Amino acid sequence: MDSIIQLKNINKIYGRRVKTQVLNNINLSIDKGSLNAIIGESGSGKTSLLNIIGMLDKPTSGQVEMEGKRIDKMSRRSLASIRNREIGFVFQFHYLLPEFNALENVLMPHSIRNLFSGRKTREKAKELLELVGLPAVKHNKVYDLSGGEQQRVAIARALMNNPKIILADEPTGNLDSHCSEVIYNIFRDINKNFGTTFIIITHDERIAKKTDRIIEIKDGVI
Ligand SMILES: Nc1ncnc2c1ncn2[C@@H]1O[C@H](COP(=O)(O)OP(=O)(O)OP(=O)(O)O)[C@@H](O)[C@H]1O
Ligand SMILES: [Mg+2]
Repeated sequence: MDSIIQLKNINKIYGRRVKTQVLNNINLSIDKGSLNAIIGESGSGKTSLLNIIGMLDKPTSGQVEMEGKRIDKMSRRSLASIRNREIGFVFQFHYLLPEFNALENVLMPHSIRNLFSGRKTREKAKELLELVGLPAVKHNKVYDLSGGEQQRVAIARALMNNPKIILADEPTGNLDSHCSEVIYNIFRDINKNFGTTFIIITHDERIAKKTDRIIEIKDGVI
């Protein structure tokens, strides 16, 4: 199986004066098209690891490769561009823009790179809202949506630029078990239909059990 992400000897140390090592010589290879769960206790280093995979943060040492290309050495500018094109993010606190409606939020990754969104782009955003089961609320302002609906808007937004990878940090962390199931099923459908690779941090054992692979992290070690 081809790997899409490869981490080699990754260390992450926070702080200058007081140093805390949170990732300890991590070696990890993620198969293209796989759906992965990252589990581990609070403070074990899950978010730190995901931020490095998603190029939101750089490791203190070690190599990060995406499809065989070194990304830990790239400039901020090229990283930002790769991130926008290749990676979709879903966070626990979805970071939608509350003053915009659902459709405008889904369009945001496109709007960052383009001044205007043509009809085709808007059609695509509408289709994505349909895919996550939210066609009716597209003109609702985000603050009028429920938590589960907001999370689904965030998923649609993550899909807008057809990313190869979706990284999710406790996407169902503040949802009830029914909503979590719905979100998991959306992830699995996208994974099957588009071959998108998923890495999902979760505390939910029932969700972790359904993924292709569980990666457990403990004190910064896998
Ligand atoms: N920017 C930072 N500066 C200093 N320490 C940090 C920073 N970010 C995280 N840490 C510390 O690194 C450790 C790992 O944090 P991380 O957020 O990766 O854990 P986590 O596994 O995601 O936990 P949780 O399940 O609570 O989200 C923690 O002890 C945290 O306090
Ligand atoms: Mg975390």
